Amino acid sequence: MPGTILVGSQWGDEGKGKATDLLADKMDVVVRYQGGNNAGHTVIVGGRTFKLHLVPSGILYPHVTPVIGNGMVVDPGTLLAELAALDAQGIATGKLLISANAHLIMPWHKELDKLTERWLGHQRIGTTGRGIGPTYADKAARLGIRVQDLLDPGILAKKVEAVLRERNPLLAKVYNRLPLDAEAIVEEYATYAEALRPRIADTSLYVWNALREGKQVLFEGAQATLLDVDHGTYPFVTSSSPTAGGALAGAGVGPGWVDRVMGIAKAYVTRVGAGPFPTEATDEEAEVLRAAGDEFGTTTGRPRRCGWLDTVGLRYAARVNGLTELFVTKLDVLSRLERIPVAVAWRIDGEVTEDCSGVTRLEDLPRAARTYVDAIEKLGGVPVTAVGVGPGREQTVVPPAGSASAGAPPARATTISGEG
Ligand code: IMP
Repeated sequence: MPGTILVGSQWGDEGKGKATDLLADKMDVVVRYQGGNNAGHTVIVGGRTFKLHLVPSGILYPHVTPVIGNGMVVDPGTLLAELAALDAQGIATGKLLISANAHLIMPWHKELDKLTERWLGHQRIGTTGRGIGPTYADKAARLGIRVQDLLDPGILAKKVEAVLRERNPLLAKVYNRLPLDAEAIVEEYATYAEALRPRIADTSLYVWNALREGKQVLFEGAQATLLDVDHGTYPFVTSSSPTAGGALAGAGVGPGWVDRVMGIAKAYVTRVGAGPFPTEATDEEAEVLRAAGDEFGTTTGRPRRCGWLDTVGLRYAARVNGLTELFVTKLDVLSRLERIPVAVAWRIDGEVTEDCSGVTRLEDLPRAARTYVDAIEKLGGVPVTAVGVGPGREQTVVPPAGSASAGAPPARATTISGEG
């Protein structure tokens, strides 16, 4: 099957840009399916550095058609600036398509993103301030303005006026800000409309046709699993679905077209912004990792929080995305270190916990759990053919289908040992 999903398996910044760039060589179409210019993908080609925020990394290959999918949120001014910068670097951008159904980041979204963060004080998320959350909120509330609205100035004006009738009192009365001028905004966005018009398309249909013709399509995720609005460390998440399921909705294709789901994992872990981070390193250790790995945000320049590989998180990412393979990045950064801790379990309220409640195959059990089952089998002198891992019928671990003996050790992935 011609579809490959590429997804971050940690908190972003795993090096997806590099992985996409490597894969894109064999791709015909590269679709970004969620997020906006909160992302920052750094790609280094032949000593030249490209920093991409909205444009899919596939743009660096002339044979690839890059697509901004319907699940993305687009700041049109930023997009045009990014395209101009690529043009200036000699990269042909003419093939880029933009979904008519993608949502537009409007001035009030950017303003409200920053105001809400300020209002939250020490409880803030630490967003990139690009208006991502408020744009997705309006999409869900059916108050969004879409790329296709740029094509009709009358509709655009009506929608902007309608939204501002509600937003301006909010800006003025709650946040003590000046109201926004609908006419000026419509005028500004009309200039973007002219520049973007030839690229606006039914990209779901385009991608479907490409898949039917057997063309290779890469679905390029931004952010990552643990920042997913459903499956991440809510509320310290972004507002879209970077996980594999989000790729289908965000590009408008069915699951039958995809047979590869590649997770990208850095050999250690970083996180930008607030929120839990079980394997966060001490200040001195983080300093070393940050300097060696150049761990500063591509979008905001913020120093990234740094920590150690968390295999509990990795197993979770493998599960919720249905990963078929893993691409490990930045192993070289660890080569200068004498001691490299790896988390194999989490300690919750003093108890070492390995969450195995979602496991259904013996070979997928965490190492300690598998060792325990092995010990029961050995000491009991009888093969264990099923293990309960929760009250539900489906929470039962069974040997792999077709295994000759229920007690035979299943093929095991190599495990990394270390300390939690
Ligand atoms: P937002 O996406 O700007 O709303 O930010 C929400 C959270 O996601 C914050 O913790 C951001 O630091 C984080 N975030 C958003 N985009 C990225 C990214 O591309 N890499 C890493 N973290 C990100």
